[in-house]
Amino acid sequence: MRNLVYYVAVSLDGYIAGPQGEFDFYPMCDDMTAWSNQEYPETVPTHLRAHFGMAVDAPNKSFDTVLMGRGTYEPGLAVGASSPYNHLKQFVFSSTLAPVDNPQVEIVDTDPVGLVRDLKSQPGLDIWLCGGGNLAGQLIDEIDRLIIKSYPVVAGAGIPAFSANFKPARFQVTRRQEFSTGAQTSWFDRA
Ligand SMILES: NC(=O)c1ccc[n+]([C@@H]2O[C@H](COP(=O)([O-])OP(=O)(O)OC[C@H]3O[C@@H](n4cnc5c(N)ncnc54)[C@H](OP(=O)(O)O)[C@@H]3O)[C@@H](O)[C@H]2O)c1
Repeated sequence: MRNLVYYVAVSLDGYIAGPQGEFDFYPMCDDMTAWSNQEYPETVPTHLRAHFGMAVDAPNKSFDTVLMGRGTYEPGLAVGASSPYNHLKQFVFSSTLAPVDNPQVEIVDTDPVGLVRDLKSQPGLDIWLCGGGNLAGQLIDEIDRLIIKSYPVVAGAGIPAFSANFKPARFQVTRRQEFSTGAQTSWFDRA
């Protein structure tokens, strides 16, 4: 069965963005970026692939579907990217956005757990939970794997990786990789 994988960049104190959506405070880590572009090419937005020296049609390796909340989708939309991951089937959760005229993008106002269970029952590659914290908080119980790109910085405040009630869920580390700046990628499977 397909896994739901939350692949996300976080600060040491668990924030995926600053209070106003800032992301430029994460210390750049060129070797991690190069590694991640190579290992998870489908997580590079379609319109940025050329910038990273990637083929626009680089094949998907791990994911063929991505889930985003409106807060995650909107920054791309603001720069004209209405289908930021055109190489993936994109589900954008929103009760306010209008439909997008692209079969790769579905604006959905539905129960995320029900949608994920339905997707898991279908054949395919794994499902990437892109974020943000609001959507991830609703999907904690459905997440099979966390891939955490941890940057050596404390934000102090911001948007948490999960907005949810206190309900500890245990995961076990299965792999860890360290990069030149001290940034780490860690893989955790549900314990
Ligand atoms: N560091 C990283 O790797 C990373 C990854 C992803 C995102 N981010 C950042 O995270 C921030 C966004 O996170 P966030 O937690 O504020 O927001 P979010 O989870 O991306 O989006 C929240 C919005 O999604 C819609 N939504 C959520 N659940 C829904 C449901 N069940 N049904 C219908 N609509 C639903 C609502 O929009 P409506 O009001 O339209 O209903 C809600 O306001 C951005 O700054 C983004 O850049 C960082």
